[in-house]
Amino acid sequence: MTAVQPSLITTLPGSAYTDASLFSLEQERIFEQTWTCVALAADLTGPGAFRTVTVGRESVVLVRGRDGVVRGFLNVCRHRGAALCTEESGQLRRNLQCPYHAWTYSLSGELIAAPNLTTMPDVDRAEYGLHVVHLREWLGYVWICLAADPPSFADDVIGEVVTRLGDVDSIDRYDVGSLVLGRRIRYDVASNWKLIVENFMECYHCATIHPELTEVLPEFADGFAAQYFVGHGAAFAPDAQGFTVDGRAGAERLPGIADDQDRRYYAITIKPQVFVNLVPDHVIVHRMTPLAADRTVVECDWLFAPGVTEIDASVELFHRVNQQDFAACERTQPGMASRAYRAGGVLVPSEHHIGEFHRWVSDRLA
Ligand code: FES
Ligand code: FE
Repeated sequence: MTAVQPSLITTLPGSAYTDASLFSLEQERIFEQTWTCVALAADLTGPGAFRTVTVGRESVVLVRGRDGVVRGFLNVCRHRGAALCTEESGQLRRNLQCPYHAWTYSLSGELIAAPNLTTMPDVDRAEYGLHVVHLREWLGYVWICLAADPPSFADDVIGEVVTRLGDVDSIDRYDVGSLVLGRRIRYDVASNWKLIVENFMECYHCATIHPELTEVLPEFADGFAAQYFVGHGAAFAPDAQGFTVDGRAGAERLPGIADDQDRRYYAITIKPQVFVNLVPDHVIVHRMTPLAADRTVVECDWLFAPGVTEIDASVELFHRVNQQDFAACERTQPGMASRAYRAGGVLVPSEHHIGEFHRWVSDRLA
């Protein structure tokens, strides 16, 4: 038996990726306490448009009101608990009506009608409105927090971006909220959510599994983490004309970005479930929804300036990267349950961000 060198940082034990009770605790203490990104605001097209999303162990319905404001409610009727919306998305005719006994809520969540309500003087309508969740819009996305007293959005969400880019102007210049959805691909990944975060945080694997990406970003073949290029991004290869699967030119550079952001790629992890990639002509946003210890749904949006139609070569590059990354995570998941990994593994120095992530998770579960 070889002894592990004391200078090496060990990973979490394998059970951290397989244990159902630990996963419940993560749902409770992480996903139900932090800000999570749940929908593209533009997908809620007008008054009455709704989407149901899963956050931690809760279902939440997002609705655009008549005043144009998006609100979020726990998707539970206050009468006897039926789910109000069971479709993933749709258009409400006027109000939000429970399909069970027809209690009716306004788009702002107030109880406005119920059959025979006049015969039930004890039911105070003001008391039985829907439970509202904390909600913010940023980068064109809807972010919600189920905590009674949410943490600071400026510190926990915007602060993560500032940590990676050096300042908030660097992302504001992409004007992400003005971009439109070019493509969305949903990946159902048979892997624990932490393996997906860890994979995104390191580029030690890039030379092995990402031939197309390292062609465009040759620095990544050196194995340094995407997060390593703080403030200045990773440079495109001299012969790459754009961030595309074959290096061909992409769309026009977005108007606001600075010269020193051109021909560069920035990767940002916003814990616990968002990855943002910035390139000169588009932005890629990944949102994760963990559903079980060994299952995570990842939705990836490719956002472009309005009017851009030639997007296939750009989408194909990161779609391949996603497929390669998620295949690696799925390859790793079974090993987490093996006796060979009971005590975990080790992190090489370029994976030190993963060690910080493990501390972040552990602090929240403590
Ligand atoms: Fe919704 Fe009865 S459970 S109206
Ligand atoms: Fe990767």
